[in-house]
Parts: sequence; C-alpha cells; structure tokens
Amino acid sequence: MHPQFSVVVFISGTGSNLLAILENQKKYNYRVSLVVSDKKHAKGLKHAEKFDVPIYTFAWDKADKQLQHLQQVIKKHKADLIALAGFMKILPADFIAAFQNKIINIHPSLLPKYPGLNTHKKALQNQDEFHGATVHFVNNKLDAGKAIVQCQIKIEPNDTELSLSSRLLTSEHKLFPYCIGLIAQNRVEWRGLELYLDQQPLAEPLTFYE
Ligand code: GRF
Repeated sequence: MHPQFSVVVFISGTGSNLLAILENQKKYNYRVSLVVSDKKHAKGLKHAEKFDVPIYTFAWDKADKQLQHLQQVIKKHKADLIALAGFMKILPADFIAAFQNKIINIHPSLLPKYPGLNTHKKALQNQDEFHGATVHFVNNKLDAGKAIVQCQIKIEPNDTELSLSSRLLTSEHKLFPYCIGLIAQNRVEWRGLELYLDQQPLAEPLTFYE
C-alpha cells in the first residue's frame, strides 16, 4: 500500500534533493505524487522517471496561466505538501495563498543568515565557524517563512565554495526527507500564527543531527 501523505516536489536543476526525497519515501511514510519543473530539460527529471512519478513542466514566461492550471493539477494529486527542492523561481502571492502553510523550501544557509543567493561564499567571506541548511515554510518574503529544522556543518580552514556546497548538499539529502517525514507524521502543526512541534511551540528551528 502506498502511504497516503502526498508530496509534490518542485525542481529547476540537478534534483539531488529530489532523489533523496524519492529514496526516503518508505522510511518516512510519504509518497511523491508529482514532480514539477519550470525547466523542460531539468536534469533532475530523470529521477522522477526512474521512480515512475508523473512530471509536469511549464515555461516560466507564461507562468500566469500555467500556474493557475498547475494549481488544479496539484489539487487533483491531493497534495498534502509542496516541497521546493532547488526551485529557482519566486512563486507569486496568489499561488502561495492557495496552498497556505503547505509549501516548504530548503535553503543552503542557517536562516535568518544569508537569504537569497551565494550563501556559501558569504559564509566563507564572513569567516563563519558554521554553515548549514534550513527547511522553512514559504511565505511572500524571500527565504523568510518560519524555519522548521536546520542542519549544521563546521567550516574547515581549507574549505572552498565548492567543498562547502558539496558537503552541505550531503547533509541536505538527510535533512529534507526527515523534515517531510515530521510533517507527514503530523508532528508539525500550525496553531494560528504559531508553529508547534510535538505539541510544543517551536521558538527556534529544531537542530537535525544525523
Ligand atoms: C540546494 O543547495 C538547495 O539548498 C538549494 O538549491 C540546491 C538544489 O540542489 N535550494 P539540487 O537540485 O537538489 O541538487
């Protein structure tokens, strides 16, 4: 039997997080029901094919109409959650409102530090001791929705942007499926504007240890 909890994953590129999400479906008891991409030839789409998951692609320059249609498609797939996994476009407010508190994103920094691009470079430039990734709810401000869970890695003296990003990506691959699992198990809950984890207010994001 397939798990009931249905996840739609959005990607734009490589899709290594998508692969991790697909590989962990059984472990965390969710099911990827659809993969969406704004790039017809996104590399990551091959993972969806391999796992027999339907694919929906659309051209971002026609996004207005397409996103309305996509909303219907997502509703047809009875999505409980939308996971942005390296999706490089900013979703419009009406789309976010249509799936309120149901869209999460993975961002490669210890938010609220470094929203936006070039996070690895910024962490190195600022000589931070730690870098990390955050899974957060999506609202209308870039990388600013409520953070759920973070992983941390130590920055080593000889780290480069490349070494840092590739080490962090390995941690992201554990973090993102784990977070989807928390939500699928109903452990994360909104009470009004407050987020709760295991019945306790989540003042700070949970730290994920592998
Ligand atoms: C990851 O670093 C993720 O944090 C960011 O975009 C990258 C996506 O990588 N949002 P991939 O496409 O999952 O390999």
